[in-house]
Formats: sequence, structure tokens, C-alpha cells
Amino acid sequence: MSDKKIVFSGVQPTGNLHLGNYLGALKNFVSLQKKMECIYCVVDLHAITTFQNPKILKSNILETTAGFIASGLDHENSIIFNQSSVSGHAELAWILNCVSRVGWLNRMTQFKDKAGTDKEKASVGLYIYPNLMAADILLYKATHVPVGADQKQHIELSRDIAQKFNNDFQVENFFPLPEPLIPKKISRIMSLRDGTKKMSKSEESEYSRINLKDDADEIVKKIKKAKTDSEPIPSNEVELNKRPEALNLITIYSDLTNTPVGEVLKQMSGKDFTHLKKNLSDALVEKICPIGKEIKKMIKDRIFLEKILKKGSEKANLKAEENLKKIRDIVGLI
Ligand code: TYM
Repeated sequence: MSDKKIVFSGVQPTGNLHLGNYLGALKNFVSLQKKMECIYCVVDLHAITTFQNPKILKSNILETTAGFIASGLDHENSIIFNQSSVSGHAELAWILNCVSRVGWLNRMTQFKDKAGTDKEKASVGLYIYPNLMAADILLYKATHVPVGADQKQHIELSRDIAQKFNNDFQVENFFPLPEPLIPKKISRIMSLRDGTKKMSKSEESEYSRINLKDDADEIVKKIKKAKTDSEPIPSNEVELNKRPEALNLITIYSDLTNTPVGEVLKQMSGKDFTHLKKNLSDALVEKICPIGKEIKKMIKDRIFLEKILKKGSEKANLKAEENLKKIRDIVGLI
């Protein structure tokens, strides 16, 4: 097996990118691009597992691409493309559908959450979505996958599928077993309205999340309204861990300002949340507003974004075809 390190990750073009996407994934994408070969994908085929308005989907694909670049990805250095433009993703997904097991998919918690109470009405695509995700990763024989904690189970499934393929076809180490790269301290940013729920694009209230396109006023307003409890800020992490909303806000502040949580507690212990909220808003405005402004500027230049995706797709397609040729042969397809 080659010991080459290859990074792959994806983001769905389903609307506004938010702080969870940035701190859980995009920030890590950026730091990895200097160390390894990186492939970053706007996963439009994943987005359509739930119905998308076609016009809005097209503009969301471009806006997510703009989000990648505004966050600091270098399209000369990393491959940036949209999934549907490399047909190998769908082809390998079909092959892997035949390797993956129904019992494995039945354990996926994200399907249970997304399908809701009426699972019979969920699309088949939503159910087999983790197999497409495995195909995304294995198509490039990626070894490392930067994601937030919510994707961990899907990466574990990708490892099981890779292992079963290698065993079934007796091609030891053909697919590497991909490693998730999950930020240690900031793997799950929580909703600003409920510290026990993940910050997500699908939560109804705009006040639950900071979008990368929010302007300074919106950020200040959302942080002011963010749910907290009535106690002052604690002096130690044991106490902090018992208070989900305080933990969330302090962890975000700690990450944005590169200050260890213990240090933040030392500075703020005994103070009330207005103090934290003021500092947190300032840090968010400083970090997020420039990204948002860049996204808003870039989405006006459709041609520039389309060119980036076209160039990325061509590069990705060459790599995908090279691997697919071997995969078809291993499986016995002519
Ligand atoms: P998606 O589009 O839901 O999210 C994109 C990335 O953002 C991370 N993330 C978060 N991290 C921390 N806190 C949060 N509140 C938060 N919300 C989102 C996600 O973990 C993810 O890393 N299935 C994937 C996309 C995908 C993919 C892949 C990822 C498709 N194929 C192959 C890796 C490899 C998804 O829906 O991510």
C-alpha cells in the first residue's frame, strides 16, 4: 500500500454556511492544505437526498464554493470541485451499495434524525447516503477525512466498507482505511438557543446559529439573545462541563481567540454573561465578518466560481478514473 497521505472532505450546498461548518470543518481544511494533498468537494448529490429547489441549489453550489475560498482554501493548491461533475462518485457508490450491509445502514443515527418519525417516506437516497459518502472518500483512496463529530459514524462505516471490499475481493490494503480528523475541543458547535442541540442549517430559528454571511449587527444581536443560565461564569472546567450553554459559548470564544478554556475561565470567573457576550461578539465580528464579506463579493462573479469548479473537476476526474479502472477490474466488470 502506498503511504501517501490524501485528504478528502465535503460540505453540502444546502444554504448558509454557519459557524459550526467553519470551526468544525473549514478551518481544519485550511490548515491541512499546507501539509497534505487535499481534495475538497461541494457534495451536491448528497444535497438532493432531500428535495432542493433546482435554481436555489445551483446558486448554493456556487456560494459554498465561495465559502471554501473565503475561508482560506487555495484553489491552485487544493482540488475544489462539485461532486456531480465527477460521475465516478455515483458509479463507485453503486459498487459500494453492493458491499455495504443493510444492518450497517440501519445503525446510522443521522438517518434516524433526518428521516424523522415517518421513515417510510424518506428518500432511498437519504438511507444509502453513507455509502455515497464512503464512495467520495474511497474514490480518491483518501487516508484522512477532516469533519465535525457528527460525521464520525459515517467515517467508521466507510472504514468497514473499505475493509469488506478488500476482504471480499482479496485485495489486501487496496482501499486505505480512512482516518477521521475531528477537532479535539471544538468538534460540535451547539445551537445558540439550546446548548444540547447541534448548530445546524435546518434549525428553524435564525437565532440558533451564526451564519458566515451575517453582518456585525446580526452577530451582536444573536449573541445578545443567546441562551445562558443564571449563574456567573464558573472558575473551573468541571463546573463548566455541567452547563451546556456556557460551555458552548466559552469553547467558541476559546477557539476563536486561541486561548485555552482554563485561561478564559481565569479571566472571566465570577463575571456575568454580558462580559463574555461582549468579548465573544467582538471575536466573532473580527473573524467571521471578513469571510462573509468575501463570500458576498465572490458570489457576484459566477464565471470565476464556475471556472474554479471546472478546473477542480478536471483534476478530480483524472484521479477518479485512474482508481476506477482498477476498481472495475477488481470487481470483474469489463
Ligand atoms: P455537512 O454539509 O452537514 O457539514 C459540513 C461539515 O461541517 C461539520 N459541521 C459541524 N461541525 C461542528 N459543529 C457543528 N454544529 C457542525 N455542523 C456541521 C460537519 O461535521 C462536516 O464536516 N455528509 C457530510 C458531507 C460529506 C462528506 C463526504 C464529508 C459528503 N461526503 C465525505 C466528509 C467526507 C455532511 O453532510 O456535512
